[in-house]
Amino acid sequence: MKVREHWGSRLGFVLAAVGSAVGLGNIWKFPFITGMYGGAAFVLFYLISILLIGLPVMLIEFSIGRKTQLNPVGAFQKLAPSSPYFLIGAMGVLCGFIILSYYSVVAGWTLTYMYKAVAFGFKDFSSPEIAGEAFTAYSSSPIWPVLSHAVFMFLCIFVVSKGVKVGIERWNRILMPTLFVIILLLIVRGLTLEGADAGLKFLFVPDFSKLTANAMLVAMGHAFFTLSLGMGAMLTYGSYLSEKEDLVKSSLWIIVADTGVALLAGIAIFTAVFAMGFEPAGGPGLVFHVLPAIFSMMPGGNIMGFLFFALLSIAALTSGMSLLEVVTAYFIDQKGWSRRKASIAFGFLIFLVGVPSALSFGALKEIIIFKMNLFDFFDYLSFKYMLPLGGFFMVLFTIFRWKPKSLLEELKRGGPGLKISVGLATVLLLISAVFVGVTFVAGVLGVG
Ligand code: PHE
Repeated sequence: MKVREHWGSRLGFVLAAVGSAVGLGNIWKFPFITGMYGGAAFVLFYLISILLIGLPVMLIEFSIGRKTQLNPVGAFQKLAPSSPYFLIGAMGVLCGFIILSYYSVVAGWTLTYMYKAVAFGFKDFSSPEIAGEAFTAYSSSPIWPVLSHAVFMFLCIFVVSKGVKVGIERWNRILMPTLFVIILLLIVRGLTLEGADAGLKFLFVPDFSKLTANAMLVAMGHAFFTLSLGMGAMLTYGSYLSEKEDLVKSSLWIIVADTGVALLAGIAIFTAVFAMGFEPAGGPGLVFHVLPAIFSMMPGGNIMGFLFFALLSIAALTSGMSLLEVVTAYFIDQKGWSRRKASIAFGFLIFLVGVPSALSFGALKEIIIFKMNLFDFFDYLSFKYMLPLGGFFMVLFTIFRWKPKSLLEELKRGGPGLKISVGLATVLLLISAVFVGVTFVAGVLGVG
């Protein structure tokens, strides 16, 4: 039996978990869905989702991981032998596979734009239309998106193959502080532009009429996605923890950092968008059409543009490694593979699975599933269905099989000061289960 790797320090673990949580979801998705679903009203619901379900699920994942010292499949098998609960873990490993396959495509785009910023600056992107055409030409090419997707997967494999402490922890220690510095620079630039307040209004003035059941489902799905919950990424990171860690405290730090970065990114982006007189658009449109045009006009735009795409690339890389780690850990623990072999083999396989997504804006754009191209389909499937379902079953597992008492025992091992009774813990878990269940069903049925 090999000795399990562990984090080198508490800070290293927290930074790695924050690195997993802070990703494209925070910088690319959150600002956009916030604007679309009612600004502050949406933020409010999102915060409720984070507290009612994000926190409990995160605590469950860390506790199960630390208790079992295993990957998601092995963990559920150990706690509930000869039962179908291991399927929660299996769905998680599959989900890691699916998410990374398309996540890496967007991450590849951001790497390309970072390179473009250094090599050419943004002078050729003088309007969103021109920038948009350039982006369409790039993203629909049969070569470049695949190549940049390959580069991103290579980076993930490089880090993960080195191990938990020397690979994942070490790189997060370097990259996460860099990310914080960059975001602060961008915020200062955004807020000092004239007309920045319109962007703040867009983000923070509530419009409750837009808060439909679907918006709530999006907020909830996003709570899972942004905190890397529901598929065992945090469970896997928790499995490299020792007993001393105070899980409640660490989880709160992770949640605050993740939400903070999302809000700060929203401020940095929308102050600039409104100050330069543009319309907020969504997803790829915002980041690859509107922002390059803004960088072409803004004083200091080339540097800001480079910093912005570096920010996105770093955020994506530290999340990508956690996704690959879930799959890698499964093959190390369950199949006895070496870390090197598992990370290279499955990194490569994920690359192959992602190629159709990389081509889904060009050569394969005719392939439509449920009215979506392949890329959107994988995104939708994982973030709207698989993660909330995974989280839901984790909560049910804890209530009915593992028992809230065992969860509390595990939490108290690192934080003896935790004062919460088994009864209260059960009620809180039931509330979060009902909350996930009802929102999920309402969203699927299209109520509201
Ligand atoms: N949390 C990451 C983001 O916000 C995405 C992610 C999801 C990473 C699930 C790991 C697991 O972009």
